[in-house]
Amino acid sequence: MNKIIYLDAAASALKHESVIRAEVDFLQNGYANAGRGICARAAAVDDMIARARGDVARFINARPDQIVFTSGTTDGMNRIVHIINDRACGAGMKNKTVMVSDLDHHSARLPFELLYDSDMCKIVLCPMDEKYNLMCSDLPRADVFVITAMSNVMGAPQDVAGLVAAARKKNPDVITVVDAAQYVVHNEIDVQKWDCDFMCFSAHKIGADTGLGIMYIKNPERWVSPDKFGGGMISKITGSAAEHQVLFQWENAPAKFEAGTLPLTQIIGLPAAIDYWSANRPDLDLIKYLYDRLSGNPRIKVITSRDSALFTFYVPGMHMLDFGALVGARGLCLRVGNMCASWIHKVLDVGGTARVSVGPWNTIDDVQQAADIIETVVR
Ligand SMILES: Cc1ncc(COP(=O)(O)O)c(C=O)c1O
Repeated sequence: MNKIIYLDAAASALKHESVIRAEVDFLQNGYANAGRGICARAAAVDDMIARARGDVARFINARPDQIVFTSGTTDGMNRIVHIINDRACGAGMKNKTVMVSDLDHHSARLPFELLYDSDMCKIVLCPMDEKYNLMCSDLPRADVFVITAMSNVMGAPQDVAGLVAAARKKNPDVITVVDAAQYVVHNEIDVQKWDCDFMCFSAHKIGADTGLGIMYIKNPERWVSPDKFGGGMISKITGSAAEHQVLFQWENAPAKFEAGTLPLTQIIGLPAAIDYWSANRPDLDLIKYLYDRLSGNPRIKVITSRDSALFTFYVPGMHMLDFGALVGARGLCLRVGNMCASWIHKVLDVGGTARVSVGPWNTIDDVQQAADIIETVVR
């Protein structure tokens, strides 16, 4: 049996033992629900959730009340569509123009495309330059702007602050929504510098557990109605539908956006993940090594640049699923296919690509062996 070389961090990061220890300790010694009890154990869980929220806020330069726990980037992006489509905040999304881009992951763009599909809004594209970076010049006017801060195929950080400012010049009221699922892996986020209205990422990409995401909301009280309803998000009920009057008062943010029981175990592992990841970002020299070694190979067409966070390529004449199976049989775990980013593949005019991504656990030995396997398979 070959040793497994895990070079698929961009899909999901392996977990550091400090994260596993925090979760196991909670499950074995401290488990209780949050926001539901007044006993010492429940209060301790509330404190742990508050600490995690505070750590996330510091991690992205936000306030704790701007941090909403979701189940991931996908959940956050879908929820944002419903939050901004609220008629209590005006006409909702009807007749609005949404700017998306060909760098978008399906999670970021499909929720808006589906609104378009039901005749709700118009979709326009953010222009890209010849290196597939989003351009701040010549932006069409938009009411909502979905910005992929780093594509999961191209791996280049985008100028989010510049894009937000440029979109605002065209329309001061534009609502800016940032998908930072990949950006957060390699870069510090400062939402105040970006000045975006919403931002999402998934905890599992920075070494925390699955089932947990972050949705940052710049002005949480601006969005009158929450998009999900249930326990823990209203402060008062003063009427009932049976009496033809429903009168309730929402809790303040973030509780207003967190109906129901949160993914407690995952949240409690998050501070350890943030600490570990902040001090141990993936070593992108490993990506440069692959670029230097493989970009001259006549059987391989590399589509990322040397300073990208990812090494993405295809093998002309070979189906990338066959390629993935062949390298996989030799112990190499990488991602092949359209990577839930069909639009950039359409622009590149390729059916699929292969992507190598690195996490803090990867070494030069891993990428040397990966390059050996790739060379053997394409030969
Ligand atoms: C750029 C980007 N956006 C969104 C997502 C969706 O993240 P999740 O599946 O954790 O919701 C991913 C996941 O690969 C991604 O890379």
